[in-house]
Order: sequence, then C-alpha cells, then structure tokens
Amino acid sequence: MTQHLWSGRFDAAPDPAAFDFGLSFRFDRRLFEDDVTGSLAWAAALADAGILSADDAAAITGGLHAILEQGRRDPSWVDGPDEDVHSFVERQLVARIGDAGRRLHTGRSRNEQVSVDFRLYLRRRIPELQARIREVIAALVQQADQAGDALMPSYTHLRRAMPVLVSHYLLSHAAALRRDHERLDQARREADALPLGSGAIAGTGYPVDTARLAERLGFSRVVPNSMDASSDRDFAATFLYAVSLAMVHLSRIAEDVILFTSEEFGFFELADASATGSSMMPQKKNPDPLELVRGKAGRAIGHLTGLLVTMKGLPTGYNKDLQEDKEPVFDAEDTLAVSAVATAAVLRRLTLHPARTGRAASGLLLATDVADYLVSRGMPFRQAHEVVGAMVRQLLMDGRAFEALSIDEWQQFSALFADDVKARVTAAASVRARRTPQSTHPEAVAAHLAALQQWLAACA
Ligand code: ARG
Repeated sequence: MTQHLWSGRFDAAPDPAAFDFGLSFRFDRRLFEDDVTGSLAWAAALADAGILSADDAAAITGGLHAILEQGRRDPSWVDGPDEDVHSFVERQLVARIGDAGRRLHTGRSRNEQVSVDFRLYLRRRIPELQARIREVIAALVQQADQAGDALMPSYTHLRRAMPVLVSHYLLSHAAALRRDHERLDQARREADALPLGSGAIAGTGYPVDTARLAERLGFSRVVPNSMDASSDRDFAATFLYAVSLAMVHLSRIAEDVILFTSEEFGFFELADASATGSSMMPQKKNPDPLELVRGKAGRAIGHLTGLLVTMKGLPTGYNKDLQEDKEPVFDAEDTLAVSAVATAAVLRRLTLHPARTGRAASGLLLATDVADYLVSRGMPFRQAHEVVGAMVRQLLMDGRAFEALSIDEWQQFSALFADDVKARVTAAASVRARRTPQSTHPEAVAAHLAALQQWLAACA
C-alpha cells in the first residue's frame, strides 16, 4: 500500500474515488520552491532549539538544497502520485537522506506549512504583477507624452461634457493603475507574517524561536494567534480583491479604447497588429484582445467571490475547504499578468487622430465656459446658466455653434458679452481656464506626467 503522511492510524488503503478527489499536487506544485524554502528555515529552527542534531540538520539542509536545484533545473520532475507538494518534498528528502528526513516534520503541521508556502509565494510573485501593471502605465504615459496639446471631449453620462487634453484623459487611467500598484503592496504586506509555530492549531510544543524564524524567512512579524493562523486566508482574499480591481481598471481601459477606435468615434486608430479580422466580413477590424481583457475581468471577480464564499461558513480551525484557495489565486494572477501585457501592447500601438478629437472638443460643450465668462462679468452663476441654456436651445434649433456667432448675435443674449468672448470660448482656452492641480490645465497635466515618469524611472 502506498505510504501517506498519515498511514499509521489506518488499516485500509484509501478509496481512489474519495482520495484522488482531494489531491492537490496538480496545482500546488506551484508552491514547490516556497515549500523547500519554508522547510529549510524550519530545519534550522529545530536545530537551533536542539531538537535536531547538527548532523541531521546538515543532512536535511543538503537534501533540501539538492531537491530545490533538481526541481529548478527540471520543473517536470516535480510530479508524482503524491497527495500534495509537501508530501512530495518529504518523500524526495527521505529517499535521499533516509531517517534524518523523517525528523523534519517534528512539531510542524501541514496546516501552517501550506500557509507559510502560500505567503512566501505571494510575497515573491506580487512584484512580478506590479511590473506588468507598470508596463500599462508606461504605455499610457508614452501616449500622453506624444499627444502633446491635442484636445478631446470628456464625457459624463457618455455625453460630451467639457474639453480636456488627450493626455489628461490617458493619465486618468494611469492614476487608477497607480492605485492598483499600491494596493498590491498592501496585499504583500498582509501576507508578510510568519504562521510557523502555530502547529496544527494550538501552537507547537517545541521551543522554536519564532522571531528568529520569521527573520530567517524575511517575514516582518509573527501571527498573533495559532487558531486564527490555521484558517486565515484573508491575505489571499485581499490579493484577489487587488487583482479584481486591477482587472476592473484594465476592463474600463479596454471598453474606452473599443469605443474610441470605433467608426463612430474614430479618436484613435487600432493598429492592424492589435486587431483581428472577420471570417466573413472583409471590412472588419475587431478589437478582440481588448474584448478578452474586458471578459476576463469577470473571471477574476469570480475568483474573489468564490474564495469569500468558501471561507464564510467554516468552523474555527483548518478545514480542507481551504485547499480551494490556491487555484483561484493562481488563475487570477495569470489572468492579470496576461491581460496587462496585452493591454500595454495594444496601447503602445494606438495612433491618435488629433484633428478628429479636436473637432469633437468644440461646439456646444463650451457652454460652461460661456457661463463662466458671464460670471467673470459679474452675473450670478445661476442666471448665467439660464442665459447660456437659452443660447444652446437657439443654436441647436439653428444647427450652429458658439464659434459661428457674430458679436452682435452674442450681445442679443447678453450685453455683458464683449469682443474677447470669441477668444475665451475655444477648447484650448477652456483647458487653460481650469486652475486646480488635478485639472486638465496643460501645466497641471505636465506635472502629473512628469511625476509618473519619475516614479516609473525610480521603480526600474
Ligand atoms: N493541500 C492542503 C491545502 O491546500 C494542505 C494542508 C493539508 N492539511 C491537512 N490537514 N489535510 O490546504
């Protein structure tokens, strides 16, 4: 009969129909490196506590290093009939060094082992995801830089609102992604606590120096409660939330670019390299990669929801349900990584049509500027709003815009309009009239652009 980590108590081999169902090695092999890292530190802690002889500790350390090396050289070797990655590493260790290998698990439980592995994994993988997010930010920054003083309409309720710089629009997405980057830092900080020393649930009975062990593994703190630690997957949920929100932001970029590259808008041109054709309609150029990014956001959100539901009804302590934590985390991680790479690639190749965006930024969306003009001449804003509302109604009826009005016509609406109104009521003047640091004023946008460029350079 195959040996399992717990065979002693049982007199029958497990029924494959029940046992194979619970195997996690297929997916938790991704924690291989972290499992070995955790075990190396545990062996050192047991040796420090006088639980392992120096010889045994040296044999275990040598064996684990050899296993790590072999697994790195040939990832396909990390495979077999084992229940999970922890059983695999232990089996390989015993095969290599015999009895000393059987002493490694002293005072330790797989409940805390899987937690430490998972925390180590997230700690080393999150920076990779952040690098992918920075690629998207860099693409937006590059496009914003190239857009110069090009103008476009901004929208509220998907109706033209006020003129903005194209760069201001592009950097609005960069600002959201910058928060995602920060949120992933927070997720990494939450995972940064050592659960070892918790035992299966009540704590370990060996005098292990957990502070020293934490330091050895690069954790900044030790968990405060062993019962909580054995079932705590909050850090995984936090990670999934950070990933989900980043996917929501990529999805919104995708949606905007799908709209703005459509025939109806024509603000940007999608590169042929970023699009796919239709098997039937020869004229089509479809934004498939962006549609997929938008679609995959649902998948990430599903993983977050799934884990929360898995966690919500658990009785205190470790429960096998928690094994359902890994696949969503791994898939969410992969999903965000590929989506960010695809989004950055599409953004880098977008071509702006500044004549079209500029044309769309003039016309009746300058109404707020007209009202502001009257306010600058002393009219109360509410009254100005009404005067300009009447102008808009008239212009709509006549099919004309503010730019077409002669000064006499301006003055028919209000005597306060003077010659300078023509220069004040343009899209370029409108963005210059915004004054706050977060506004679309060209100097404010340039400062935001420079700050992002500096931040990117500092991260590199
Ligand atoms: N594969 C398990 C998991 O992912 C490891 C912990 C197993 N612990 C246990 N008592 N069966 O959660």
